[in-house]
Amino acid sequence: MYWPHAYRQPDRRARALFRALETRRRDRLFADDLAIRFLPAGYRWLVRAAALPPLGHGIARVIDHRYPGGPRTSAVARTRLIDDLLTEAEPEQVLLLGAGYDSRAHRIPGMPLTYEVDHPLTQQAKRQRVADRPHVRYVPVDLGSDRLAVALDGFPPKRTAVIWEGVTNYLTERAVDATLRDLAAITASGSTIIFTYVDRAALGDDTPWHRKVADVGEPWTFGFRPADVPGYLAGRGLDLQGDLSAEEAAARYHRDEPAAGFYRIAWAVVR
Ligand SMILES: C[S@@+](CC[C@H](N)C(=O)[O-])C[C@H]1O[C@@H](n2cnc3c(N)ncnc32)[C@H](O)[C@@H]1O
Repeated sequence: MYWPHAYRQPDRRARALFRALETRRRDRLFADDLAIRFLPAGYRWLVRAAALPPLGHGIARVIDHRYPGGPRTSAVARTRLIDDLLTEAEPEQVLLLGAGYDSRAHRIPGMPLTYEVDHPLTQQAKRQRVADRPHVRYVPVDLGSDRLAVALDGFPPKRTAVIWEGVTNYLTERAVDATLRDLAAITASGSTIIFTYVDRAALGDDTPWHRKVADVGEPWTFGFRPADVPGYLAGRGLDLQGDLSAEEAAARYHRDEPAAGFYRIAWAVVR
């Protein structure tokens, strides 16, 4: 179970804050106008202030100083990379797995039918802030206890782009395994599975970033060794197409702010 005692949402809020701040930059990598809606009043004020470039730079510097290692820069670079991978995939349908406050269904032009799958509590919180749209279907699932294939019974076997961003590091090894097997089974051949993961070598790190996620009750529980990923996926009917660190993704978009080497974005095609 993801939240053993209470419903918490600091990591989702942090991501929404990073995206909302990015949206205010003149050299932004993407525009996420919905992100601000998921923030408490104090953060909204901060985001509005960040539209003034000196204040925006100052706020980013304070965040990066307080949480060294690049959670903000990593989240932003990987969101942009995933946007690009999604567009390139030209899917017939999209599955946002552990959708959280991801607003791609609303902000990316021409999105096809999109299934948002998430823990029921997160999904409820999101739906209170976003209007229902005809091309978005919500499916509540606890991946810690429920099988994805069962929750998605009747899922059309079409060419799908699956986005599983910022989730595997909160799951068990068993849940990651079962979910990847289910994805390979329920999506059509040629579908694209995009997911992020933490390099297993970093799981025991004692950095402020790691301490913060553990302190708020969201410790990282799972990671891969990058060298193992191609074989692991191949054993589940998936062929790895790419695997970049957030640092490499940031360099791809000419961002010279340091991002994390251990936070990775991988994408694979269903055989
Ligand atoms: C850090 S948020 C990432 C949200 C979004 N994908 C993003 O990148 O902004 C982690 C997401 O994983 C979901 N999640 C974590 N554990 C889960 C579980 N056991 N079952 C379903 N969803 C889970 C949470 O509900 C949340 O939406």
